[in-house]
Amino acid sequence: MFPHQRVIVRRGPESGLPIIVAIHSTTRGPAIGGCRMATYPDWRDGLADALRLSAAMTVKCALAGLPHGGGKTVIVIPPGTSEPARTAALHDAGTTIEELGGAYATGPDVGTGPDDMVVIGERTDHVFCRPVEAGGSGDSSPATAAGTVAALRALCEFRFGTPDLARRSFAVLGLGRVGRRVADLLAAANARVVASDLDESKRPHQDNIEWTDPDECLRKEVDVLVPAAMGGLLNPATIPTLRCKAIAGPANNQLDQEGAAKLLHDRGILWAPDAVVSAGGIIHATAVELRHKSPAEALTLVGAIGDTLRAILRAAAEAGIPPAEAATAQAATAQAATAQAVGR
Ligand code: PHE
Repeated sequence: MFPHQRVIVRRGPESGLPIIVAIHSTTRGPAIGGCRMATYPDWRDGLADALRLSAAMTVKCALAGLPHGGGKTVIVIPPGTSEPARTAALHDAGTTIEELGGAYATGPDVGTGPDDMVVIGERTDHVFCRPVEAGGSGDSSPATAAGTVAALRALCEFRFGTPDLARRSFAVLGLGRVGRRVADLLAAANARVVASDLDESKRPHQDNIEWTDPDECLRKEVDVLVPAAMGGLLNPATIPTLRCKAIAGPANNQLDQEGAAKLLHDRGILWAPDAVVSAGGIIHATAVELRHKSPAEALTLVGAIGDTLRAILRAAAEAGIPPAEAATAQAATAQAATAQAVGR
């Protein structure tokens, strides 16, 4: 079965670069999902990423209770792409999204930020997270980080008996826009924080965050590992080497294959499904931009990620299955209920 509703792959008319827009589902409502701009060995790897990430967005929206489906844009750029070429590629993405007539709206993702949403916005209105001055809800990373911390509190309560983060140890892997904020929030809550990034220039220069290299960070003996970089981190090669008790982080698609959830489960490592943990950005952006909530109201909705995660962890424990399975089952139920209600 071809699971995606619609996938567009084209050479951008303005940039000449591969532009990929994947709509996985619109069953619950218009598809949403960020615009990733990255270098891949081959454009087909970008396509594979778009297919995986858009499917994950469907699950993310369903678990967050949002009336949306999943989509994703991937722009494949060669290393060292110039600023004008980047702008042209963002325009191409905007044009492609505009042609979809509202079936899909984009937002920031790895490699793009609020200013890039303004550039996409020169070709389409179906774009979230333009800066507040430009009429959008602004950077989604603070909300994604806040949602991650809400999830971490719920996870700690479930696993260690208290939601208190003080003195608990965390290894944050990836210090991009979201990871850096999560590390700062944890340190501010008096947690013990070790952090790392492939990019040495991201090294935090402060006493309450310890720096290690990425390999050591992944294998650090801590209470909770927090994946905040690219996907596929948890696989049959890495899982046997982990020394954490639990894992929860904002990176998308952390498990690189179906079997990974079971491997973690068998090792007694509690994994919080990334689709739940990372939903803060879309919850905030859609609440503010589509449902006209105040930023404070939107943050309360983001905080509910803790309740969603708690319910999934509880259901999984009761059934004796990995949390990933409980999350997939709950997303499928939500998806089927909507399909039935709207007769699709
Ligand atoms: N990259 C985020 C996601 O894919 C951010 C996003 C926010 C996307 C708002 C769309 C809308 O979940």
